Amino acid sequence: MKKSLRSQEWFGKKGKDGFIYRAWMKNQGIPSYEFEGKPVIGICNTWSELTPCNAHFREIAESVKKGVLEAGGFPVEFPVMSLGETLIKPTAMLYRNLVSMDVEESIRCNPIDGVVLLCGCDKTTPALVMGACSVDIPTIVVSGGPMLTGKYKGKDIGTSDLWRFTDDLRSEAMSEQEFKAAEAGMCRSKGHCAVMGTASSMACMVEAMGLSLSENAAIPAVDSNRKVLAQLSGSRIVQMVREDIKPSDILTREAFENAIKVNAAIGGSTNFVIHLLAIAGRIGIPLDIDDFDKFSASIPLIANLQPSGKYFMEDLYYAGGLPAVMKEMLSLLHGDCKTVSGLTIRESVQHAEAINPEVIAQIEKPFNILSGVVVLKGNLCMNGAIIKPSAASPELMLHTGKAVVFENIEDYKERIDDPALDVDENSVLVLKNVGPKGYPGMPEVGNMGIPKKLLAKGITDMVRISDGRMSGTGFGTVVLHVSPESASGGNFALIKDGDLIQLDVPGRTLNLLVGAEEMARRKAAWQLSAGNISRGYVSLYINHVEQAHLGADFDFLKGGSGSVVSRDSH
Ligand code: FES
Repeated sequence: MKKSLRSQEWFGKKGKDGFIYRAWMKNQGIPSYEFEGKPVIGICNTWSELTPCNAHFREIAESVKKGVLEAGGFPVEFPVMSLGETLIKPTAMLYRNLVSMDVEESIRCNPIDGVVLLCGCDKTTPALVMGACSVDIPTIVVSGGPMLTGKYKGKDIGTSDLWRFTDDLRSEAMSEQEFKAAEAGMCRSKGHCAVMGTASSMACMVEAMGLSLSENAAIPAVDSNRKVLAQLSGSRIVQMVREDIKPSDILTREAFENAIKVNAAIGGSTNFVIHLLAIAGRIGIPLDIDDFDKFSASIPLIANLQPSGKYFMEDLYYAGGLPAVMKEMLSLLHGDCKTVSGLTIRESVQHAEAINPEVIAQIEKPFNILSGVVVLKGNLCMNGAIIKPSAASPELMLHTGKAVVFENIEDYKERIDDPALDVDENSVLVLKNVGPKGYPGMPEVGNMGIPKKLLAKGITDMVRISDGRMSGTGFGTVVLHVSPESASGGNFALIKDGDLIQLDVPGRTLNLLVGAEEMARRKAAWQLSAGNISRGYVSLYINHVEQAHLGADFDFLKGGSGSVVSRDSH
């Protein structure tokens, strides 16, 4: 043991305080030797029946506990607010920062020496990692694992198909009855979305950065190996406390670069950008939006997974999992980065094997030379915007079209299917006021549905631009995260119907082709619309959330406060 246990500042105390700390633990039927002198391991649980992706976390927690006990630690499970993508309105992202505060304060204020983060549905991973980084005690992530692949009419389906089914229903290519049959076949087991959406991208992110044990990302939720991994993680965190391995020892600048490269190789979610920036801000690693382009530009797509490819997380696991992907691209990674296991990345993946070339390609024979995230700059996005080329249409990568502007999501919903809407396949759909402040939480509405009259013509993709986000399961030629957002008076707020917009993905630019004089005139006339939220969490959010290119964290949460509690209250 390198240093004394933090938990002993509670349980090792003499007098009244020690009496209180120990006596009330004993009401759970626990003998004092359980928590005196043993590493106390918090199991931070996002279990909730309102977060279906995490609804099996009580079982996972039991496996973690077994591991903690067998390694000589003492497990204590505690709840934090859970965030399920499917039920929370208006968007789970509104609460990512709130949960990170819950996690940070729960860890700091309690007698915990190390923590296991049980993460699953999209925001639960970044929220828990952000909170833990701001405390910086030994931490390991255990993900819940993906669902089994969905089935519909004999075909494999996953969440990405939902967008296609929805367009098919709108264009009447699919009946209500068929839509319901697909709904019944989509979610066949416990676990999070089965495609390389945000949840899977986050699970890969923690594994690529070394914050979880190897193979964490792809083992299906219902595979017995998921419980084995949880038990091994419980055992390992006890050892990590003894070795005093903290997130700041793992999350180096090189670990962040590895995460960006791996996210590119697997065709990971665009939401990865905003979450990784926020995590970097908490652990104090300088990272900016341009790094995502810089480190992913030369990385080809070597995992054939929806929405960029064909297969599902279950297939990735059977094909060798993330370790096999990382081994294929090891020459491009910082192999010496340390992981929670005590091994380096290079050592962690040395026995991995890619056993299905349909799912994991060799680096020299990739599925697509395009991958990752391209960062665009220009007069429409002075601080940046992003596009995921592997999920977009190659013929639209260089495109100039007339803007069809929707001032907000309500305006879009009202007019998108209006037969009189002046739009054709060359138009550029623009959705304003869905950024961090304009639509608090920055919802995943950026991959706007195509107008019904164009769907009827067989159009399946067109250029769409917004200051919002897109579901990690989404696809299309969709420019996202425009910063500064329209609600903060960026040039994006100044676009009018009929303006020409030029998207040049190879050239990394996005510009409004309107003269400087006219832009200045519009800017002078622009007015901030008065918000009507003056109390509560949403008010706090609007006043403190940063722009997308900085990670949309709260300005006062950057960095950490460490693990020391300076005052006792008893
Ligand atoms: Fe939870 Fe997709 S809804 S991961």
